[in-house]
Amino acid sequence: MTQQYATQTVHGGEARRKPYASATTPVVQTSTYTFADSAEIQQFMESKANGERGTREEYGRYGNPTQRAAERKLALLEGGERALLFASGMNALTTTMLTLLSHGDHVVMAQETYKRTREFAASYLRRWGIEVTCAPIGDLASWAQALRPTTRLLFCETPTNPTLRVMDLARLAALGRASNVLTLVDSTFATPLNLRPLALGIDLVVHSATKYLGGHNDLLAGVVVGRGALLAPIEDARGVLGGVSNPNDAYLLIRGLKTLALRVRQQNESALRLARFLAGRPEITCVHYPGLPSHPDHALAQAQMSGFGGVVSFEITGDMDTTARFVDALRIPYIGPTLGGVESMVQQPAALLSLDPGERRAAGIPDTLVRYAVGIEDPDDLIADVAQALERMRSGEWRMGNGK
Ligand SMILES: Cc1ncc(COP(=O)(O)O)c(C=O)c1O
Repeated sequence: MTQQYATQTVHGGEARRKPYASATTPVVQTSTYTFADSAEIQQFMESKANGERGTREEYGRYGNPTQRAAERKLALLEGGERALLFASGMNALTTTMLTLLSHGDHVVMAQETYKRTREFAASYLRRWGIEVTCAPIGDLASWAQALRPTTRLLFCETPTNPTLRVMDLARLAALGRASNVLTLVDSTFATPLNLRPLALGIDLVVHSATKYLGGHNDLLAGVVVGRGALLAPIEDARGVLGGVSNPNDAYLLIRGLKTLALRVRQQNESALRLARFLAGRPEITCVHYPGLPSHPDHALAQAQMSGFGGVVSFEITGDMDTTARFVDALRIPYIGPTLGGVESMVQQPAALLSLDPGERRAAGIPDTLVRYAVGIEDPDDLIADVAQALERMRSGEWRMGNGK
């Protein structure tokens, strides 16, 4: 019997009977694993040579039992054969790309991606002789035109940060299949509750598990999910590059995942309500949220996703300072550069970028843009808080601080 998603988040991937009859999967706090005698080592080496994986643990950099339970749960939730857990989202992305790509290869990636992923492509991949073409997410024809005989990978995020553009994954997967090129999608903003890229034909899905999957702003982790044959060399690379997740973070991730369905449903609902509220306010010039009919990808998001996610971006009438005033006047969300946790988190992207105003405009980041990542607080409170911040911004009465 296939279980419903919320049941899988609680029970999936974990042994029914755990060590010491514990109700929770334990943290196995060790850097290495021991062998009873030389015969046991020989048996282990033989099973490894036969391609058998996971018969027992060997050394902490190659894996640990807590991390493997988290991986099984994540594979189930994402609908993939296997999952690999990493020390951070960036580690998952960079190890995956380093494994899939070689000198002379070419990548097509979305223009709008997390800035460190762009930096990795622009600085590191290029330095190692891997060429990168950036293409707009809303124009798949330009992705097809960018293909070369050396293209090995198509990569995008969906929804994107910060304007929540949505990629048509079924069409991207079809393009990849037709041209024999692998497709990789960073689905961090969507979560596996709202979007299943593998079911749409995408080869590999990656998440910054630091965000919604962990959900409590208390861990760093990343995950890549897909077919076992594709993940085997990435697992080997993880053992060499050293980015395995530690047992404590893996434990926190398992714990966080148990409430994923509850949290994400609430965040979907609260973000949609906040977006609708903002769309009706005279101080707001534009709301970027795929759940609103005014969003350029609304129809696609409705067809492809089962929820629109917890991030709402919007632009405020005024300038950089007015926007900072609004952010400072909010009393509930923290100001910070993350999303996906139980605490709402807000940021003015222009204030966090070390770019001059011209460069910010070229990067499509208006000075007046605010990114609001909704937590699980009561949506009525969040909306009332935004309303009072808009009033205080207008009246110039913001210097009292937000009381945080
Ligand atoms: C979409 C996206 N992908 C990847 C990352 C990197 O994840 P981490 O911070 O876990 O390395 C982030 C971080 O903000 C992100 O927003």
